[in-house]
Amino acid sequence: MPTLNDSVGSVGRGFAAFLTPPPEGTVRFTVGQPDFRTPDSVVEMAKAALDEGQHGYTRSQGSEEVCEAVANHLTKYGIETNSLDVVVSPGCKQALLYAMMSCLNPGDEVILFAPAWPSYDGMLKLIGAVPVHVPVNRSNYHPDMDAVRAAITSSTKAMIINSPNNPTGAVYFPAEVEELTKIAIDNDLWIFDDMIYSDLVYSDHKYLSPATLDGGFERTLTIGGWSKIWAMTGWRLGWITGPSEVMEAVKTCQASAASHVPTFLMGAGAKALALEEEPQAFFEEFKERREVFHALLEEIPGINAPKPEGAFYILADITETGMDDIEFATKALEEANVHLVPGSLMPGGEGLVRMSYGTSLEQIHEGCRRLKQWLEG
Ligand SMILES: Cc1ncc(COP(=O)(O)O)c(C=O)c1O
Repeated sequence: MPTLNDSVGSVGRGFAAFLTPPPEGTVRFTVGQPDFRTPDSVVEMAKAALDEGQHGYTRSQGSEEVCEAVANHLTKYGIETNSLDVVVSPGCKQALLYAMMSCLNPGDEVILFAPAWPSYDGMLKLIGAVPVHVPVNRSNYHPDMDAVRAAITSSTKAMIINSPNNPTGAVYFPAEVEELTKIAIDNDLWIFDDMIYSDLVYSDHKYLSPATLDGGFERTLTIGGWSKIWAMTGWRLGWITGPSEVMEAVKTCQASAASHVPTFLMGAGAKALALEEEPQAFFEEFKERREVFHALLEEIPGINAPKPEGAFYILADITETGMDDIEFATKALEEANVHLVPGSLMPGGEGLVRMSYGTSLEQIHEGCRRLKQWLEG
């Protein structure tokens, strides 16, 4: 057999091993997607587009309508971009890969705040770049600026900011985003700003885009998508925007790799961005779940978690139980019928477990009851 690509063997599959459906009756805190249906009006729009015959190839970066809808949506965060500099991609994930392909060369180092969503590590390795995992502060999962500065070398080319964050639930303070932007400016780094959870913030401080800060726009690629806020994970729709020069490179990546996202989903994507009621209802539901989940976990011996500030994850320290996180997750499944993600699947996540509240309040109550009974027993 001919040989394989040199990098692919070193690429992990993230949480995949812990995402396979567990036995029936298990409470699943593993899945990183909302349990809501996509709003009906969005579904209807996609169906109508199919019925109308929107079956052919179209503009590679996305229709003018959907690109304008994205540019308009981003003004909500103070991000001023031209719709000609927006590319709608097959998911936020692919947009991140385009950002890396456009800005990085093999051997370039990229700062990740650890524990980081595992796909960043995999994508970087796929293109021959080098992930550098810089641990966050363990007490609140916010960046440790001294550690970030210390991690920078002459090969550092970018940092990936994801706030609100998966897996930690942290939302970085404005002063922290300002400091990270300053570090990027001082060291001439790109910032890949993964803002996919931007509206899911429960703390007083909101999502702040580095692209809105002095010197930030020219080095920031803003990357987001429809999956989380609009409950559209399976639609595979994401966006990316940034300075025109980089966006030309991103357009080349999309034209070569995907042509475009499905033609009949573009109008529906634009429609979703104009909705207010449904995303607000999803937000309210997540907010309540976060309160309840965190309060229930506080009553369980050996589990310690800061209250998440955003997204829909709780990252809990389980070291007091005397187990490591793999043992904890394995036994939680076998002995308590609760499925969760062990943190050591991500560098810097040792001793932690991630729990998603993309599941009902009923399941949250039941899962916590089982964990409590198991750990007290
Ligand atoms: C931080 C982060 N970025 C990106 C994604 C992927 O988004 P999409 O479904 O749009 O590819 C996820 C999904 O879990 C995520 O948690």
